[in-house]
Amino acid sequence: MPKPINLIVACAENRVIGRQGRLPWSIPEDLAHFHRLTAGQVVVLGRVCYETWPKVRSDGRQPVVISRQTELAQPGVHVAASVPAALAIAQDLPGEIMVCGGQRIYEETLPIADRIYLTLVHAQVPGDTWFPDWRHLDWRETERRESADENFRFTFSTLERKRR
Ligand SMILES: NC(=O)c1ccc[n+]([C@@H]2O[C@H](COP(=O)([O-])OP(=O)(O)OC[C@H]3O[C@@H](n4cnc5c(N)ncnc54)[C@H](OP(=O)(O)O)[C@@H]3O)[C@@H](O)[C@H]2O)c1
Repeated sequence: MPKPINLIVACAENRVIGRQGRLPWSIPEDLAHFHRLTAGQVVVLGRVCYETWPKVRSDGRQPVVISRQTELAQPGVHVAASVPAALAIAQDLPGEIMVCGGQRIYEETLPIADRIYLTLVHAQVPGDTWFPDWRHLDWRETERRESADENFRFTFSTLERKRR
């Protein structure tokens, strides 16, 4: 039985997730949520995300980096040249599979995702990377929590794909 594919993302109302290689906001509560949910798990992520997360291996995370640069591989860091190859490696490692982006990786995995840990940031934000549209697909919200800080209102949702 394959392990479920979980996506974890913080996304603005206009689906922006990034700007100039960084997050387009600083939301400490969301960062803590992201770190808590990915600790000890298999994190599947693109090369840019990997390079901007120097402490990815802390808290027992096992990165599977998607890149054509195989030389990025080192003990404890797996590298795959495609999303299917990364997911095959992730299936064989212990821990949940958490797909952490960026854009193309979310686009390729959304159609097969079983769950999305979504932080919806209630703002229209300028940016250059986007999460694909998920709203038209059939999801059941199993958890929901509203929160806010001095800059943003945001909702933490867990969306499970409805299976027929
Ligand atoms: N808000 C959020 O939750 C969230 C989450 C993730 C990322 N972000 C933001 O998004 C931006 C980074 O994402 P990004 O989309 O620009 O970059 P990315 O996916 O992290 O990295 C892009 C690189 O990954 C490799 N890659 C990606 N898709 C591939 C595929 N299908 N097959 C083979 N290789 C693939 C390529 O690496 P090589 O060039 O090495 O071959 C590509 O140049 C940043 O601004 C970041 O802050 C936000």
